[in-house]
Amino acid sequence: MRNLISMFFFPLLFLFICHQTFFFSQASAHLIQDTCKKSAQGDPHINYDFCVSSFQKDPRSSTADLQGLGVISVELAIANATSTLSYIKELFKNASDPFIKERLSSCSDEYSDAVPTLQDAGVDMKSKRYDDANIKVSAGMAYADSCEEGFKEEDGHASPLTKENNDLDELGAIALSLTVLLK
Ligand SMILES: *[C@@H]1O[C@H](CO)[C@@H](O)[C@H](O)[C@H]1NC(C)=O
Ligand SMILES: *[C@@H]1O[C@H](CO)[C@@H](O)[C@H](O)[C@H]1NC(C)=O
Repeated sequence: MRNLISMFFFPLLFLFICHQTFFFSQASAHLIQDTCKKSAQGDPHINYDFCVSSFQKDPRSSTADLQGLGVISVELAIANATSTLSYIKELFKNASDPFIKERLSSCSDEYSDAVPTLQDAGVDMKSKRYDDANIKVSAGMAYADSCEEGFKEEDGHASPLTKENNDLDELGAIALSLTVLLK
């Protein structure tokens, strides 16, 4: 009898688990795509491919539900802002142009404020306080915008941080769109 159980039960259990794993990972692949599609439709600043590839950078995305994606979107923005902050410090060390040095120093202040603001937004997102998360993500994005604008204060200086500022803006826009989808 026991042998009969192992002969049939375990293979069936195995098949069941395989099926469930497959089913759930498929479901989540669709969730990332569906979410990014809705986000891109709702905000012209969000590029669908940027959205999908950003989520795919975090392995937890493949099994996350919509709220999980919301948390991950904020964490992607935090990671982005954090590495941009160290990049700004590198650029500052190398810069010789006094205007650029001054602007980089402001950007460093702005990103130093953006990181904890986004971290607060992450806490709100985890606690399902989507309105609060929305306000704090917007504030984080505003820091990136003022960093970028700073370089326009004097003609003839290209911003060395356009890509970084745009990346944070776009990741922020994805997080904002999730706060709306989750409500
Ligand atoms: C910021 O995120 C974007 C999109 O995921 C990525 O391409 C870029 O490398 C990240 N930048 C930094 C500085 O981490
Ligand atoms: C700063 O300068 C060093 C030495 O020239 C170089 O290796 C590094 O890539 C530069 N960093 C940045 C962010 O431009």
